Amino acid sequence: MLVLETLGERRAVIDATDIDRLSLERTQQATYPHAAFTEMPVDLKRRYFRDDQPLPGVRQLVQVRQHDLTREPPPHPPYDLIVCRNVAIYFERTAQERLFQVFVDALAPGGVLLLGKVETLFGPARERLTLVDPRERIYTKPA
Ligand SMILES: C[S@@+](CC[C@H](N)C(=O)[O-])C[C@H]1O[C@@H](n2cnc3c(N)ncnc32)[C@H](O)[C@@H]1O
Repeated sequence: MLVLETLGERRAVIDATDIDRLSLERTQQATYPHAAFTEMPVDLKRRYFRDDQPLPGVRQLVQVRQHDLTREPPPHPPYDLIVCRNVAIYFERTAQERLFQVFVDALAPGGVLLLGKVETLFGPARERLTLVDPRERIYTKPA
């Protein structure tokens, strides 16, 4: 999961979380195969990466931490963006419903939730978010 928090002074902080230590180590290394950039607009890559590695200023914004989505809420709400792709789908339906509610609670008004392409928001959380893009599974919380 990747969550983006906005602090009072509009300084962005990215919480990069997973339950698995190996995944967290890989995240910390931040090395990407060249192919990972094929769909990224060139100007974004130039602005934020050098030699396929994020610039130090970008790395400083990312806090990599171990976190169990089924046990604790995201660490620093409210978030402008929550990206949680291909994780909820492995949980039982009730656990998914609970998690979606946790995400909606953690989103700032106007914030965006992005799920995996085979995941669908359901339960009470569905009533609290607006579907922006059905194909990309993008939802927003009314401001
Ligand atoms: C299929 S991978 C998806 C990875 C990535 N989001 C993607 O779309 O490529 C599922 C990830 O969910 C993590 N995960 C499983 N259970 C979790 C939990 N309870 N809390 C946080 N992360 C969990 C796994 O460690 C794994 O990294």
